[in-house]
Amino acid sequence: MTEKTHKVLKAARKRALIDNDTYLSWYRQSTKNPEKFWNKHGKRIDWFKPYTKIKNTSFSGKVSIKWFEDGVTNVSYNCIDRHLKKRGSQVAIIWEGDNPYDDKKVTYNELYEQVCRLANVMKSNGVRKGDRVTIYMPMIVEAAYAMLACARIGAIHSIVFGGFSPDALAGRIVDCDSSFIITADEGLRGGRTIPLKENTDKAVEIAGKNGVAVKNVLVVRRTGGSVGWVEGRDIDYQKAIQAAKPECPPAKMKAEDPLFILYTSGSTGKPKGVLHTTGGYLVYASMTHQYVFDYHDGDIYWCTADVGWVTGHSYIVYGPLANGATTLMFEGVPNYPDAGRFWDVVDKHQVNIFYTAPTAIRALMGAGDDFVKRASRKSLRTLGTVGEPINPEAWEWYYHVVGEEKCPIVDTWWQTETGGIMITPLPGATDLKAGSATRPFFGVQPQLVDGDGNVLDGATDGNLCIVDSWPGQMRTVYGDHERFVQTYFSTYKGKYFTGDGCRRDEDGYYWITGRVDDVINVSGHRMGTAEVESALVSHDKVSEAAVVGYPHDIKGQGIYCYVTLMAGEKGNETLRKDLVKHVRQEIGPIASPDKIQFAPGLPKTRSGKIMRRILRKIAEDDFGSLGDTSTLAEPAVVDDLIENRQNKQ
Ligand code: WT7
Repeated sequence: MTEKTHKVLKAARKRALIDNDTYLSWYRQSTKNPEKFWNKHGKRIDWFKPYTKIKNTSFSGKVSIKWFEDGVTNVSYNCIDRHLKKRGSQVAIIWEGDNPYDDKKVTYNELYEQVCRLANVMKSNGVRKGDRVTIYMPMIVEAAYAMLACARIGAIHSIVFGGFSPDALAGRIVDCDSSFIITADEGLRGGRTIPLKENTDKAVEIAGKNGVAVKNVLVVRRTGGSVGWVEGRDIDYQKAIQAAKPECPPAKMKAEDPLFILYTSGSTGKPKGVLHTTGGYLVYASMTHQYVFDYHDGDIYWCTADVGWVTGHSYIVYGPLANGATTLMFEGVPNYPDAGRFWDVVDKHQVNIFYTAPTAIRALMGAGDDFVKRASRKSLRTLGTVGEPINPEAWEWYYHVVGEEKCPIVDTWWQTETGGIMITPLPGATDLKAGSATRPFFGVQPQLVDGDGNVLDGATDGNLCIVDSWPGQMRTVYGDHERFVQTYFSTYKGKYFTGDGCRRDEDGYYWITGRVDDVINVSGHRMGTAEVESALVSHDKVSEAAVVGYPHDIKGQGIYCYVTLMAGEKGNETLRKDLVKHVRQEIGPIASPDKIQFAPGLPKTRSGKIMRRILRKIAEDDFGSLGDTSTLAEPAVVDDLIENRQNKQ
């Protein structure tokens, strides 16, 4: 396969912080002597007490990851206080509402006051260092205040995306034993409201039945919609803030004190609470934000993610604010009021750096170029993508139509677990190839291995591992270190296994090919097939379910469910609709099945293992090459599955 290379753009090279020689020399230093490299770059954040220890990490045995461990700092201090002298009146957050006429700007001075007030509200309600605070909020500035207020007092936040159901929210509240929740009356997206408070009320009830008593629910009024109110438990945000003091000293946090938990799906079991800590995380998030986007002082930066995902944590809030940037927070969706919204907002706020997901690019590409061209987009300088592989057609459209061949595209590969960007081009340093995440960031040592763990060299396909630690790495699964070791370090002993397949080409460029485990990626949202399966079998008419991904033009992958019913039940449209509703209730709208196939049986080996390889092929309508089916217990079930497949071309 030969790919067209787009040379580094002259304009990008001229202004870039890092050119190719610098990249190569820094990369060499970062892997040859990580201690020396990170000693230097750890100083990019302010420390109350400087570290003397830098790296203390092991991927073997019990697995222990510590960075800058004797240093003392505070994330909120680094994201706010240290900027006040120089840029107190600079805008920290530009908020763009769902409604295009609704926006506001928050300066660093204002951010300081709001975060301090909220921190005091939390303190006066008994929230202490180390307590877990659940944040279930729309994309409003108060979500960022909530994160930073937690960081300020040393509480650990756990953000749950607003698209999750009360059940899913309750599961996360219970898992980390969180008794303080911050939410809003309703969210607003694409003109539609989302009943966040109502969902929270239900979740609190479920959590109570599962042994976790929620003490307080702090409610921001976003829409003013009417919501239930529990006296003594619920607190009106605006009222409480007004009564609170506008100063709150930042807590002294050790580098390895937890900053946040973020739940993410894996190939088995319930979602895991990915735990990130303070010092290393902030060093890594801020450094990647600066170099990957070639961020310069004064730039207007926009990442379209939601704070419910790790991208929102690292690249809407922590990375940009630690760098004193102006970060844009968008409440709405890409196609409301119409498919030109992104580009209108770029013009309106003169955005220089724009970071979004391939699924959005594909959807907007489908709406036609006129929506793009009606905006000037003159301010744009760097474009980025994240979340899933970007197909070359979408990449080229982004490059030629949106960026008019003037903006490098940084295709950034990383994960909730990695805390920050791992494999990516740097705008002024890296020649681009459409669809490749290109080369590792400083300190990141990728390795490709085969199924048996043999290391593969040169141009090859393999499973992507990282062989040494980087400061932004997750430290553990909250409350279950053994699961951390099992999930990430046991497939290939002594290595961090990403779960992704990957190709390395003759230039040493990396091309992520997608998950090799039972995780699917739907519109950049990560979903465990096991979770959807367990939601399906919890329906009283379902006996067994198997879920696989299949290629979807816009979403990247769609959710395909094979369902066998209890004896006597019949599969029909009504039941299909009911099952979709059921999954939405159990997990949330983001897990809505795209296809449901009723099947009399699933293909299993004689030992009872479902042969997913076959199910994937049938879902892809590619059943000519099913491979060896001779080990199946009942080969005949396959004929029925093929006959009744839902993706017939
Ligand atoms: C999985 C991680 C990291 C923020 C958003 C997703 C896939 C992510 C890319 C990319 C190809 C990508 C991988 C990864 N992924 N970025 N640039 N190219 N694949 O975070 O929910 O933790 O999902 O997303 O499969 O393992 P996440």
